[in-house]
Amino acid sequence: MTFPHIKQNEDEFQLATYKKMPLAVERGLGSWVWTSDGEKYLDLYGGHAVCGTGHSHPHVVKAIKEQAERVLFYSNLVYSDIRGRAAEKLVSVAPAELIKAFFCNSGTEANENAMRMARMATGREKIVSFSGGFHGRTADSISATFLGKYRKIGEPNVPHHVEAEFGSIESIRAIIDSDTAGVIIEPIQSMAGMREASPEFFTELRAVCDKHGVVLIFDEVQTGVGRIGDWFFAGSEFANWVTPDIVTLAKSLGSGVPVGACLVNERVSSAIKENDLGTTFGGGMLAMAAVLATLEAIEADGMIANATAVEAHLRESLEGMQGVVALHGKGCLLGIEFDGPCTPIYSKLLEQKIITGTSSNPDVLRLLPPLCIAKTEIDWLLEVIREQ
Ligand SMILES: Cc1ncc(COP(=O)(O)O)c(C=O)c1O
Repeated sequence: MTFPHIKQNEDEFQLATYKKMPLAVERGLGSWVWTSDGEKYLDLYGGHAVCGTGHSHPHVVKAIKEQAERVLFYSNLVYSDIRGRAAEKLVSVAPAELIKAFFCNSGTEANENAMRMARMATGREKIVSFSGGFHGRTADSISATFLGKYRKIGEPNVPHHVEAEFGSIESIRAIIDSDTAGVIIEPIQSMAGMREASPEFFTELRAVCDKHGVVLIFDEVQTGVGRIGDWFFAGSEFANWVTPDIVTLAKSLGSGVPVGACLVNERVSSAIKENDLGTTFGGGMLAMAAVLATLEAIEADGMIANATAVEAHLRESLEGMQGVVALHGKGCLLGIEFDGPCTPIYSKLLEQKIITGTSSNPDVLRLLPPLCIAKTEIDWLLEVIREQ
């Protein structure tokens, strides 16, 4: 089918909820996608931070194919070998305090369940979240999202959500108290333009939560699964080795097969009983095969070390480049801040067949490439920026 025909079909039969790029993706491999017109694009947006292992990683594709031929799905009402192995692998790469997984289907669902667990574990209602954070579009998650237009879209919002200032120790000391059930934080605020807080902020955040018996949740939907050059932000040096009570995951966890998860510590785990949480599709066999193979591929291909090397290469190359103010973020979760709006460079890159992303900060161009991206592929981007 030609591109105009594909576009017409989607425009006619799908709700127009996204501003789309003028291309139809037909095929992908590694850091590259091919369009219906046979054009090849370098994907520095990683299919919206989902394709961490790259497009159609052979190990992940093989695992999904084999699982599909065995059994596509059965719910949590039965035991499953692949579900147990995926949970075991996920817990094994997480900080030691996080001992159990709950599987669901998306980032917003993982956050909904995390906030519910915080309320269940404490018997309290108040949830504190941060200016600039994005947590999803369902009721509780959007009510915890104090970023631009989003919270308004979710009106009427769920009550008992309170905003604190991201990175401000004074703000958390003033707002978190013994009425607070949970605090949810996006440790690197991606949609807001890769805003970061200091490692000391996370130490203080943990201390304030401990003082008041509050459940601390890291929303690692973007930062998790190797993207920042460590398996998770939780327990990393960027967090001053702080581990929260719950980590939420989605995006690249299944390399493109929809899956979300909450990883919890003993305190939270012991507060959750039969029937407290549930979802039909969570923990389905196809998704579990994708999770296990994704984690195996990241490990086998040394992708976490590569993410760190890619960041170092970009940092060095952008140093002193005209028009570039700063590079924000970690590993393969990066934002280039320019000295003015980034949309002209975003459009120029797309013209040159390089896909990147914008953010709610007009000056910040977002890069969420596969963790397997090569430095030589990054050089394509640098060449276009240099020509600006
Ligand atoms: C940090 C963060 N949390 C939660 C979500 C929501 O995830 P999903 O779109 O899978 O519901 C997103 C999505 O962009 C996100 O970036």
